[in-house]
Amino acid sequence: MKREWTQLWLKYEEKKNCGNGIYFERLWIEGFELAHPIVSNAVKEVKMGAAGMLGLQVQEEQGTTGLCLRRTDKNTICAEGYALTEQDGCLTVEARDEKGLLYGVFHALRMVAMEKSLSGIRLVENPDNPLRMYNHWDNMDGSIERGYSGKSFFFENNQVVVDERTVDYARMVASVGINGMVINNVNVKNCATWLITDKYFDEVAKVADIFAGYGIKFFLSLNFAAPMELDGPQSADPLDPEVQSWWELKMEEVFDAIPNLGGFLVKADSEGRPGPFTYGRTQADGANMLADIVKPYGGIIIWRCFVYNCTQDWRDYKTDRARAGYDNFIQMDGDYHDNVILQIKNGPMDFQIREPISPLLGGLMKTNQMLEVQVAQEYTGHQIDVCYLIPMFKEILDFQTYCVEGKGTVADVISGRTFGNRNCGIAAVCNTGNDTNWTGNDLAAANFYGFARLAFNTGLSAEEIAEEWIRMSISCEQEVIDTILGILLPSREIYENYTTPMGIGWMVTPHEHYGCSVDGYEYSRWGTYHRADHLGMGVDRTDKGTGYAQQYHEPNASMYNDMNTCPEELLLFFHHVPYTWKLKSGKTLIQHWYDSHFLGVEQVEEMIKAWESLEGKIDGGVYATVRGRFDRQLHNAKEWRDQVNSYFYRKSGIADEQGRRIY
Ligand code: GCU
Repeated sequence: MKREWTQLWLKYEEKKNCGNGIYFERLWIEGFELAHPIVSNAVKEVKMGAAGMLGLQVQEEQGTTGLCLRRTDKNTICAEGYALTEQDGCLTVEARDEKGLLYGVFHALRMVAMEKSLSGIRLVENPDNPLRMYNHWDNMDGSIERGYSGKSFFFENNQVVVDERTVDYARMVASVGINGMVINNVNVKNCATWLITDKYFDEVAKVADIFAGYGIKFFLSLNFAAPMELDGPQSADPLDPEVQSWWELKMEEVFDAIPNLGGFLVKADSEGRPGPFTYGRTQADGANMLADIVKPYGGIIIWRCFVYNCTQDWRDYKTDRARAGYDNFIQMDGDYHDNVILQIKNGPMDFQIREPISPLLGGLMKTNQMLEVQVAQEYTGHQIDVCYLIPMFKEILDFQTYCVEGKGTVADVISGRTFGNRNCGIAAVCNTGNDTNWTGNDLAAANFYGFARLAFNTGLSAEEIAEEWIRMSISCEQEVIDTILGILLPSREIYENYTTPMGIGWMVTPHEHYGCSVDGYEYSRWGTYHRADHLGMGVDRTDKGTGYAQQYHEPNASMYNDMNTCPEELLLFFHHVPYTWKLKSGKTLIQHWYDSHFLGVEQVEEMIKAWESLEGKIDGGVYATVRGRFDRQLHNAKEWRDQVNSYFYRKSGIADEQGRRIY
């Protein structure tokens, strides 16, 4: 079968010149070595972009007009940052290092692709986050955990795949500032453990080298019990000297074979994965042991905080899963070594359509922290339903944790601004696969693009990012831009309206996580996540309930604790609320619940109409793919509406005030 893939926002199709041609007739380099792989890739990219978008063959020669790529030590430009300056027909990209240069070049090309003039441009861009990573949950057999865009392009039949697509992928993510990559699933099972053995070293090193050429540090997910699976000691106890010696030798071998390795991502003691708890050790014992061993190689250990007991009995009100991350990690704040980063999911549960921010973010004050979000739409529509996630990510970053006065937002904490850390940043579970269009639904590529742009520049708005993506990937026609913005921007709230509003979450088909199952509960036959009874619904996480609300700094703790001050979009996450409770709108909870589900379906119908207005105005293939997915989204939305409304009608016995039919 012929392997094909699109170039997404790097398609470099012919663009209106906008007077930009003059900058791409020639280029020259000052202070950088053309032989450096990142510099030569940057130059290659300029040539490709200029040829495709402007029909120009770039000459490598100095001139008074053209593109100058210059090394600088100006202190306004930080590591990986860049400046773009245009004067009298000369466009200068200045940077301290090769990565900054590459990002600057991509910025210039982005302007051309967006049909924006570079004339008079004068800007400095420094990345807000030191680490900006994509995490792939790809398995060696080619399947992808929570993948909705085909199979893996990194693995096939237990082999590592290295081809032109690897290069295109690296170009694509580098163009939006990604500088770290994990290619294998956090659940390291079966032969994936062998990725750290000589069976796979050559191929893995090739992938790592390709990424290095685009300024991307390469990471692997690690199996904490690797010693036991690779004929080492029959223990993984982090304090056992035999286990430590095994890891020492192993790491020497691995870093020697894969010089461009940045370190490892570890999921331990979670959902059946091995970890230090098995040996009565702490998470810090486990993370520090590995961190000390990789330190001589400049390696870092990214340790996930998604640690909870998935076999707990949900009927027991005292064991609240939402509490687990904080309870398991807060006591050891300050014990983690400098090259350990704790990677924390944005919410305390699991990537629901709306959750409060994990209280660990900013709760930890002496530990390197990294935020983990999910671009893959596991609980948000499987890339069948449209759900532009950047507004959610913005909310997360803007959240005020109150950990330190004036510097307490999540964006402050993870960027290192609050506590001065250097090992920190943001990671996302990626949503790509080997589908021709990379993301299944073409509109889901806006999330793939958008996360990275936001990670680099957290000040960008969700709208700015969406517009950039539309201009580069779909069209620069204003009517098309406006129509697609009108679909993307409210899509998260629309999804929330017809699924699980007010922070209640879940109600999805267990394990699959697409489609409605109101009582669907993942890990046991007992209990529900929503705790609805005939009088009300929601989980009491106040000081009278599970006490979760007390994990926040003040004034957040008190705000969430009180039903009157708790933001209504999270009311059911924190409180068990009577169906007759009056919301600020004057509506009862149950009426709002019905209305929201009816509204969600109507909004999907509106989105479809808007999309249909684009027929003939955009690429026919993209139009048809998205149109097909909208049919499925509408079907899904109706199912949700009907199942949820009838369930709560039966539970509460309260009819819809508008007398609409509830199935
Ligand atoms: C969720 C998801 C799993 C994943 C896990 C994780 O539980 O459903 O597939 O492995 O998160 O983040 O580790």
